Amino acid sequence: MWPLVVVLLLASVRCGSAQLIFNVIKSVEYTLCNQTVVIPCFVNNVETKNITELYVRWKFKGENIFIFDGSKRMSKPSSNFSSAKITPPELLRGIASLKMDKSDAVVGNYTCEVTELSREGETIIELKYRVVSWFSPNENILIVIFPVLAILLFWGQFGIVTLKYKSNYTKEKAIFLLVAGLLLTVLVIVGAFLFIPEPDILECEVKWALGSITMNKASGGDGIPVGLFQILKDDAVKVLHSICQHFWKTQQWPQDWKRSVFIPMPKKGTAKECLNYCTIALISHASKVMF
Ligand SMILES: *[C@@H]1O[C@H](CO)[C@@H](O)[C@H](O)[C@H]1NC(C)=O
Ligand SMILES: *[C@@H]1O[C@H](CO)[C@@H](O)[C@H](O)[C@H]1NC(C)=O
Ligand SMILES: *[C@@H]1O[C@H](CO)[C@@H](O)[C@H](O)[C@H]1NC(C)=O
Ligand SMILES: *[C@@H]1O[C@H](CO)[C@@H](O)[C@H](O)[C@H]1NC(C)=O
Repeated sequence: MWPLVVVLLLASVRCGSAQLIFNVIKSVEYTLCNQTVVIPCFVNNVETKNITELYVRWKFKGENIFIFDGSKRMSKPSSNFSSAKITPPELLRGIASLKMDKSDAVVGNYTCEVTELSREGETIIELKYRVVSWFSPNENILIVIFPVLAILLFWGQFGIVTLKYKSNYTKEKAIFLLVAGLLLTVLVIVGAFLFIPEPDILECEVKWALGSITMNKASGGDGIPVGLFQILKDDAVKVLHSICQHFWKTQQWPQDWKRSVFIPMPKKGTAKECLNYCTIALISHASKVMF
C-alpha cells in the first residue's frame, strides 16, 4: 500500500513540475552596427517532433509583443514590434529566438515563454544598447581619417624626397623629417589604440558615416563633389580597415612596416574589379628608407 502511494505522489509531483529547461542567457547587446537584433531563447528539452504542439509567447513590460501558435501555424507580432519573428522550423530544435529590425528594438527585459503540450517554462533576457565609442560616428571618422591620411601622405612625400635627392644637402632635412614623422606616427597609433574600439565596429562606423555624408551632400547640393565621397566611401573603408586590422592583430607595428600596406587606387572607369586597381605601396617606400 505505502509504496503505491509514494509512487503515485512522485508521479504527480513529476507531472506538476513538468518544466521546459532553458539555456539561461542574462543579457545581449546591440550596437549602431546591428541591422537586426536577435534576442536568444534556447530550450534544452523540447521533445515533440510536431510543431502543432508548441506555443511561444514573448513579453515586454508585461505586454505580449509576439505570439506563435503552432496549432494554427500563426505568428502574431504586436504593432510596436511589427518586424518581430521567430523561425518555426528551428523551434523544434528548441530555438525560440526573436528577430526584429533594429528600429523596433527597445532596451529592457524580454520574457520568452514556451509551452509544449503540458510542459512549459520561461526565461528573461535583457536587451542592452552599447555605445561603441565616446564620439559620434562622424567625429570618429574625422579623428581616424585625417591622422591616417596625414601619415600616409607624409611618408609618401618623405620617400619621394629621399629617393629622389640623395645628396648631402637633404640629409639633415631628411633626418628632421624622419624624427618628426616618427613622432607623428607614434602619436596617431597611441590615439588610435585609445579611440578605436574594434576593427569590425570601425568598419561599420566608417561606412555609416560616409554613407550619411554622401546622402547629406546629395540632398544639400552645396558644391562639394558627391563623386569624391562615393569613391572614398568604399576605398576609405578598405584602407582604414586593412590598416587598423593590421596593427590590431600584430601588436608590433614598426616591425611590420617592413611589409607593405597596399592602397587600392581606383583608375578611371569602374572601380569594381581588382584588375582596375593600381596598387601603391606607400609604406614600403618609407620602410625602404627606414630599414
Ligand atoms: C549585434 O551584432 C553582433 C555582431 O554582428 C552580434 O554578435 C550580436 O549578437 C548582435 N546583437 C544582437 C542583440 O542581435
Ligand atoms: C501533428 O499533430 C496534428 C494534430 O495533433 C496532426 O494532425 C498532424 O498530422 C501531426 N503532424 C505530424 C507531422 O506528425
Ligand atoms: C507600444 O507603443 C505605445 C505608444 O507608443 C506605448 O504606449 C506602449 O507602451 C507600447 N507597448 C509596448 C509593449 O512597448
Ligand atoms: C532587467 O532585469 C534585471 C534583473 O532583474 C535588472 O537588474 C535590470 O535593471 C532590468 N532592466 C530594465 C531595463 O528594466
